[in-house]
Amino acid sequence: MSASAQMTAVVQHSFGAPEVLTLGQAVRPVPLPTEVLVRVHAAGVNPVDWQTRAGSGVAWALGEPPFTLGWDVSGVVEEVGFGVTTLAPGDEVYGMPWFPRAAGGYAEFVTAPSRQFARKPRSITHEQAAAVPLAALTAWQTLIDTAHVQPGQRVLIHAAAGGVGHFAVQIARHLGAHVIGTARSARHDWLAGLGADQLIDHTAVAFDDVLAGVDVVLDLAGDARDNTSTRSLTVLRPGGLLIAVPGGVSPELAAAADAAGVRATPFLVEPDGAALARIAELIDAGTIRVEVEEVFPLAEAARAHTRGQAGRTRGKLVLHVAS
Ligand SMILES: NC(=O)c1ccc[n+]([C@@H]2O[C@H](COP(=O)([O-])OP(=O)(O)OC[C@H]3O[C@@H](n4cnc5c(N)ncnc54)[C@H](OP(=O)(O)O)[C@@H]3O)[C@@H](O)[C@H]2O)c1
Repeated sequence: MSASAQMTAVVQHSFGAPEVLTLGQAVRPVPLPTEVLVRVHAAGVNPVDWQTRAGSGVAWALGEPPFTLGWDVSGVVEEVGFGVTTLAPGDEVYGMPWFPRAAGGYAEFVTAPSRQFARKPRSITHEQAAAVPLAALTAWQTLIDTAHVQPGQRVLIHAAAGGVGHFAVQIARHLGAHVIGTARSARHDWLAGLGADQLIDHTAVAFDDVLAGVDVVLDLAGDARDNTSTRSLTVLRPGGLLIAVPGGVSPELAAAADAAGVRATPFLVEPDGAALARIAELIDAGTIRVEVEEVFPLAEAARAHTRGQAGRTRGKLVLHVAS
């Protein structure tokens, strides 16, 4: 195959509304030593995708268009570069390569360091597997690597019904925490089934009126939504930890945390094949379930973005790339 072979990809030529996402041609990548070339079967859609499409998100890492969005992929190894010993052509893998640099996941092929992938969970489809990496790694790296959640701790998860939230509920439960989630009431039965002990309808009840003594707040809503990060400081126990995932920690939020005697940290997810291997084991064991609200054809990436940015997704949205 020549290095300039073409492939189908969603390409955007400017920042803007979902309509800038168009199906086109891009150069098929070639794996360097230590990299694998993956034939993508499905690509996950995340808020950072539509934020970056519009010029915010991680646009600072991608630079000016044209580029291809997408970090979450599930597919089959097509080719391995020199030195790769842990994967071979034909292996089914999933991953979130390169983040926050461009990965080009909305395409027929991606290439990335082999260890940024893991074996796809055997018990689920490529569409379900593509829904996992970015959202589940965010939940894993915040609850386990950052907060070191211990059995019996009280963990509050804002936006529990979303992509990250529904994995966070299950991982916190797996860690033995007492899991509290915010979500509209139509999602409560489902979230209780995933392991939430207590649920608060954020459209009807002010969580800071009814909670106290929380060890860890995983805030997936942020101050942009109902001032959620700042209000969360008041529900933490002394020394408790707020992980402000969407908006980070502003100087005002840091000062308010100091004054309240609690900790607050920003967070950005990183590629992590080893954690994905553990997550795959938990999925195959039935400990973690994957909720996909809708699968769109790759050509309808714009429609998936329109749906996602409405902010009401239950679980995840996914693009079907190839069978
Ligand atoms: N820094 C990082 O590394 C990182 C990584 C992943 C995600 N993020 C950010 O984290 C946020 C969540 O990501 P996601 O993929 O989980 O998003 P998502 O799937 O689009 O979240 C949708 C959910 O948000 C809920 N929601 C909206 N407003 C809420 C509020 N005020 N209180 C409680 N729930 C609310 C909705 O539930 P209802 O319908 O019940 O309202 C819906 O289920 C996004 O802003 C994303 O950009 C950051």
